[in-house]
Amino acid sequence: MSGQQRLGVGVIGAHAWAEQAHLPGYRAYERAELVALCDTVPERAQHLAQMFGVRKVYTDAAELINDPEVQMVDVCTPTDTHLPLSLAAIAAGKHVISEKPLAHDAQDAFEAARLAQAAGVRTKLGFTFRYSPAVRQIKRWIDDGTLGEIFHVHGLEQNSQFLDPSYPLRQVPAGADWNALIPSSIVGYGSHLLDLVRWCAGEYKSVIGSLHNYVPERLVRGYEGMQRIMVEDGTAALAEFVSGAQGILQTSYIAVGNYPGVELRVYGSRGAAVARLVEEGGVAETLHFATPDQVEFRKIDLPSTAYPPGTTLHTPWPELYYRNLIRYWVDEILDELPGECTFYDGAKSQQTVNALVQSHRERRWIDLPPEREASVP
Ligand SMILES: NC(=O)c1ccc[n+]([C@@H]2O[C@H](COP(=O)([O-])OP(=O)(O)OC[C@H]3O[C@@H](n4cnc5c(N)ncnc54)[C@H](O)[C@@H]3O)[C@@H](O)[C@H]2O)c1
Repeated sequence: MSGQQRLGVGVIGAHAWAEQAHLPGYRAYERAELVALCDTVPERAQHLAQMFGVRKVYTDAAELINDPEVQMVDVCTPTDTHLPLSLAAIAAGKHVISEKPLAHDAQDAFEAARLAQAAGVRTKLGFTFRYSPAVRQIKRWIDDGTLGEIFHVHGLEQNSQFLDPSYPLRQVPAGADWNALIPSSIVGYGSHLLDLVRWCAGEYKSVIGSLHNYVPERLVRGYEGMQRIMVEDGTAALAEFVSGAQGILQTSYIAVGNYPGVELRVYGSRGAAVARLVEEGGVAETLHFATPDQVEFRKIDLPSTAYPPGTTLHTPWPELYYRNLIRYWVDEILDELPGECTFYDGAKSQQTVNALVQSHRERRWIDLPPEREASVP
């Protein structure tokens, strides 16, 4: 696609997250052209198409996927639909970005990555927080040696989204037994967090985790009245990495605090960095840095070039991070750049989610396979 000026984009799913994050991202990037929007609820697609100037509206995802003007498909629908819609896009020879998680089982996600590679199409997982300017700065400090050898990585993704039992829970997997613990925060939040920590510390070697249900009765979207449902709303975990680094992780959607509630702390032999992605005091995130000879953490202000044009730390976080994600993604496709945050990375994250669930059930450390299953662009 080298030399092509604009990428034709089709978005499937026209609700809250598409409105807050994906569609503002495409609208703001001049190299993307919003061709089509699809939702099974036609009014939603029509409403957002009008708001974001999208030319075509569909209610059948297959029609959007097969539209010749759509070169890249964006899957922004509920979890259970991510895999089938992504596979349909791959089969049609379209580049595809999916919201997380791609699949409940890592093997399905690895298979999707393999199929995309075989079809010669590019993939991206919507791991929002990799596109935080503060997190990307920490990654640069790891890669250029500023932090030295990495000893410890701490990752949190927690906020109080579902603390109030009368706030309806979404995304309960079809067919789940409501009387047995249903992995939930570790799936919805953990898929991000495990990817972020892996990006910084390298491949996981072993993990051990504890999953828990704290709020036993709550409203569930699509059901009348309070429901008894054993969803996992908090997970704490330890990790060992192939590099020898250690990790401490927590996911929770009942921990009091603001969105998105992501915190990344990296401690190395030459320095330490803390990114706090919590909307507080009117800013989306903060970054702090310390060195062995100046152990008091100091605040780092990044240059304006770290932010997508037209955004600042005062831009709402979903828009700030997705505008960044989308410009990287569109450039990867149009300029044939190396892929980052692909379906393969989604599969590796899911593999670790699955290992933590197994660890909890079997009350033991679980080793992760070290080999790279596929080399995916
Ligand atoms: N990356 C992040 O930080 C982040 C944050 C919030 C939400 N999300 C994810 O984004 C996705 C969308 O979130 P949301 O809150 O907008 O969900 P939602 O359930 O409110 O909306 C999804 C929309 O998809 C439509 N839809 C469902 N199946 C469809 C199909 N087969 N074809 C066309 N349309 C279909 C629904 O009608 C609905 O309008 C979810 O997977 C969610 O987990 C990610």
